[in-house]
Amino acid sequence: MKNKIYLTLLLLFGLMVLFSFKRVKGNEDENLFAIPSNFPKPTYHFKSNPLTTEGVELGKTLFYDAIISSDNTVSCGSCHQQSAGFTQHGHAFSHGVNDLLTKRNSMPLYNLAWSTSFGWDGGVHDLDLFAISPITNPVEMNENMANVLDKLRKSQNYPSLFKNAFGSEEINTERFLKALSQFMLTMVSANSKYDQYMRMEGVELDEKELAGLELFKQKCASCHAGELFTDYSFRNNGLEPAKVEDLGRFEVNQQESDKHKFKVPSLRNLGYTAPYMHDGRFETLEQVLDHYAGKVVKSEYLDPILQQNGKLGISLSSDEKVKIIAFLKTLDDDYFIKKESFSESSLKTVIPKKDILDDVKKLSFGNEKHQLIMNESLVFYLKLKDAILKKETNKAAVLANKLALSLDRIDRKNLDIASRVYFDKVYQGIAFDADHIIEGKALAQHQFDHFGELSANMFRLMASFKPSDKPLFYYESSEKKFSWLSNLSNEESTSIIKPYQFKDLKKRAIQP
Ligand code: HEC
Ligand code: HEC
Repeated sequence: MKNKIYLTLLLLFGLMVLFSFKRVKGNEDENLFAIPSNFPKPTYHFKSNPLTTEGVELGKTLFYDAIISSDNTVSCGSCHQQSAGFTQHGHAFSHGVNDLLTKRNSMPLYNLAWSTSFGWDGGVHDLDLFAISPITNPVEMNENMANVLDKLRKSQNYPSLFKNAFGSEEINTERFLKALSQFMLTMVSANSKYDQYMRMEGVELDEKELAGLELFKQKCASCHAGELFTDYSFRNNGLEPAKVEDLGRFEVNQQESDKHKFKVPSLRNLGYTAPYMHDGRFETLEQVLDHYAGKVVKSEYLDPILQQNGKLGISLSSDEKVKIIAFLKTLDDDYFIKKESFSESSLKTVIPKKDILDDVKKLSFGNEKHQLIMNESLVFYLKLKDAILKKETNKAAVLANKLALSLDRIDRKNLDIASRVYFDKVYQGIAFDADHIIEGKALAQHQFDHFGELSANMFRLMASFKPSDKPLFYYESSEKKFSWLSNLSNEESTSIIKPYQFKDLKKRAIQP
């Protein structure tokens, strides 16, 4: 009898030990990572990289720190923005260092613990290895790991952040990558209206959404399968060939049959992640459904599901399209987009930002005609600012074009070498953002995002060459990364600026 009790106690004790281990190894700390009850088991190897609060914090700091890129200007967060479902807002292609463009559309980051491969072509099999690719890619961060580690070791904050996360100050590739993974693994998106409906949390889908769900199951779920809305396979969905050829999966495995095939993407948060497809060719879900309904292109690579019974594409009436879109919208997870703990502002360590004045040189145009051009350009700039702030998108596009053309009249041959090199570099930046403002005709937010960067470059020109004979003022708001030039010393209180309530405004004067 006594023995039995002992045995039972021993067994219980053993179970407790086992259970507590599983909690640590399996990351059952609900605050960091929890499996939503409507999701399958994740595939990530948590056992070799258990999440800890400190590890996630380190990963988040690295994710938002531009120190990882060669010229300290681009962070993971530049191309993966929370407000855009961790893809890049409004961009078909993203710009990395020196404003070079990526060849593919940045991917949204969420539910990575369930993915079996990473990238549009699935070229990387382990999340822990993924970060190496953007870091070393010349059009993304253009850096190498040895340099990154060196910069981190010499920084003020990182040795102690690594110590908190991994027990010693040692900074190595493995720890660096594991920390980044830890943060990215916490990005679970499972709180959309659809999820709450599936988990019966008192939320109902309306008639249209339910009809859309049924249609989706019949017409889309063979590829966009299950609760993750992908079967993680690689397929060709009949997009018209792009101007610049992208062979997709073939680039990874050289299999002829995998040419032009791309990963079936998940479909959560589409309301935030436009544009769509591997090259960001579609701006709207209507365009996506029009593609499936009538524009699927036949080729030897086209998925058999999209050419059944000799018919190309998926038959969809306009009513069915509307219903499917209504359903897709129930997959938007507003909670995920706004969750404070994913944001840069929740960081415990403030990432030092380069001061814009560090990049201002003392240079001269040495030419009256140039002074005149600069002052004329400034007028276009100020009008452009008004249009951006009033959300007059078409007018802003016209003015951005005028500004770029006006500045381009500066005759570089008449500048000394230092001035020429600097002018060209800054001008390129301005032309780049002006282009986006021109293209972004219908997207006020997109224009707004690019105007801040354009203003920073206008400031660089004005402060370096001092062409104006009146003082100018540069306002910088840390909150929205927005900045602008003005000839008013109290512009923060004018009717055009006031409604924006920019926080933490910093003002600098550029004296003639
Ligand atoms: C210049 C823009 C840019 C930067 C900077 C960038 N990414 Fe990306 N990211 C992309 C693009 C583009 C893709 C798609 C790549 C492809 O398919 O070739 C991508 C894909 C990914 C994926 C794959 C997601 C999936 O579902 O398969 C992960 C993970 C990722 N990035 C993480 C990171 C991390 C971590 C960093 C910082 C170290 C980073 N990215 C920096 C643009 C960027
Ligand atoms: C034969 C498989 C297949 C079927 C069926 C299918 N898709 Fe896709 N879908 C894909 C693939 C593959 C991609 C990525 C293609 C690319 O970028 O080259 C994709 C991309 C998308 C995207 C873009 C997502 C993003 O983040 O860029 C949306 C939206 C989408 N599909 C919706 C649907 C809807 C709605 C249906 C049903 C009407 C559907 N798909 C049916 C395979 C499929």
